[in-house]
Amino acid sequence: MKKLWGGRFKESTEKVVEEFTESISFDKRLYIEDIEGSIAHCKMLAKQKIIGSEESKKIIKGLKEIKKDIEENRFVFKKEFEDIHMAIESRLREKIGETAGKLHTARSRNDQVALDIRMYLRKKTCSLYLLIEELQKSFLSKAKEYLDQIIPAYTHLQRAQPVLLSHYLLAYIEMLERDRERFIDCYKRIDRMPLGSCALAGTTYPLDREYVAKELGFSEVTRNSIDAVSDRDFAIEFVSALAILMMHLSRFSEDMIIWNTTEFGYVILPDGFCTGSSIMPQKKNPDVLEIVRGKTGRVYGSLMALLTIMKGLPLSYNRDMQEDKEQIFDATDTVESSLKVLIPLVLKTSFNRKRLSEEAKKGFILATEIADYLAKKGVPFREAHEITGKIVAFCDENKKDLTDLTLEELKRFSSLFDKDIYNDIDIKKAVNNRNIIGATGIDQVKKMIRYWEKRFE
Ligand code: ARG
Repeated sequence: MKKLWGGRFKESTEKVVEEFTESISFDKRLYIEDIEGSIAHCKMLAKQKIIGSEESKKIIKGLKEIKKDIEENRFVFKKEFEDIHMAIESRLREKIGETAGKLHTARSRNDQVALDIRMYLRKKTCSLYLLIEELQKSFLSKAKEYLDQIIPAYTHLQRAQPVLLSHYLLAYIEMLERDRERFIDCYKRIDRMPLGSCALAGTTYPLDREYVAKELGFSEVTRNSIDAVSDRDFAIEFVSALAILMMHLSRFSEDMIIWNTTEFGYVILPDGFCTGSSIMPQKKNPDVLEIVRGKTGRVYGSLMALLTIMKGLPLSYNRDMQEDKEQIFDATDTVESSLKVLIPLVLKTSFNRKRLSEEAKKGFILATEIADYLAKKGVPFREAHEITGKIVAFCDENKKDLTDLTLEELKRFSSLFDKDIYNDIDIKKAVNNRNIIGATGIDQVKKMIRYWEKRFE
C-alpha cells in the first residue's frame, strides 16, 4: 500500500517494520478525538480562506460519515495505515477523493496526536472525578449506618486507641477528596490546545489557533510549538494522580483483607465479591480486594514507563513518544475498573458490630486516657506516661484489664487517682471526649458527615 508519506521512498515498508511501528491497534481508541479535532481544524482552514468553503464542507461531511462507519463497525483498522490519524485520512480519500488531502494543511501528526491525547484525558479526568465521588458516597453511607460503632484503631498494626468506625471511613473520603483535587489541578495543564504547532515550528499559514481552541472547548492555546509537540508532562501528571489514587484503593483493600481474616473478623464481605477455593471448602477469599491491591503495581508500572520513555528524549517530538498511549490507556482502564468494583463492594460490606465492640475494649487501649488523667492533674506528661506504662505491665502480669483495677490498686501507682478516673477509662467517653476539629468524638464526626452530605448534594 502506498503510504501517505511515501513520496521520497523507492522501496515499500518491510512487513516486519509495519508490524513493529504501527500504533493503530491501540490508538484507534482516539478516533472520536481525532475526528472532532480534524473537523475543528478544517472549519478554521475555511474560515481563514486557506481552503475553500465547499471543500471544507465536503471534508467535514466525510469525517462525520467515517465516525459513523467506525461506530457501526464498518471500518477496518488495517495495520498498513500505521496509526489512527492516517487511517482516517486514507478513508476520507476513498470517500471524497483528492480534496481529502487538503485536511492536513498546516498540521502534522505531531500536534495532532498531542491534541488527541489531551482531548482524551480531558474526558477521562471528568469521568474519573465523578467515579471517585461515587466511591466517596459509598463510604459516607456506611459512615452513617455505623455512626456510633467503636472500633480499635491501629498504629504499627498494634492496637492504639478506640475510634468510631465512621471516623475511619471518613478518612478514606478525605484521601479520595485529595485525589479529586489532584485531577482538577492536572486538568488545567491538560486543557491547552496544541494544534498549530505543526511538526515543531508552527506554520506560515495564517491559522486562527484561538478559534480552534474555542471550537474544541479548550481554555488556552499552548505558547511554544517546540514544547507543545514534545510535552507529555500532562499525561505523566495524570497517571501519577492515578497511581496515588490506586495507592489509596490498595490501602483500603489491605485493611479489608486483614479485617476479613478469622483472626480479626471485623468485616463481612459480600458473597458476590468473594470467591471460594477449589480445594478448601471453608474458604471465602477477598479476591476483588487482592486484585485491586495487585493492579496498583500495574499502574505504578505505567507511571514509571512514561517517566522513563520521556527522560532521555532530545527536543522535540520523537517516535518513542508513541509508547505513551498504551500506558495511559491501561492505567486509566485499570483505575476505572477498580473504582467501579469498589463502589458496590463498599456499599454491600457490613461490619461485625459485636466483635468490634468486644475487641475495642481489649489490649490496654485506654492507657492513653490514664496518662492524660494524671497529666491533667499536674503530672508532667512524660512522667504520667511512665506511671501508666507500669500500670499496664502490672495488668499484663496479673491478667487484668485496665478497667478491672480497683482504686486501691491504682493508688499504689499514684496518689492522684480518684473515683473520677472511671469516667475517663470508659471506652465511649474516651472516644467522645475527643471533641476538637478532626478528632473522633461523635459530635465532630456528625459534623463531618453533614459537611460531606452538603458537598455531595
Ligand atoms: N503514531 C504517532 C504517535 O503516536 C503519531 C505521530 C507520529 N509522527 C511522526 N512524525 N511519525 O506518536
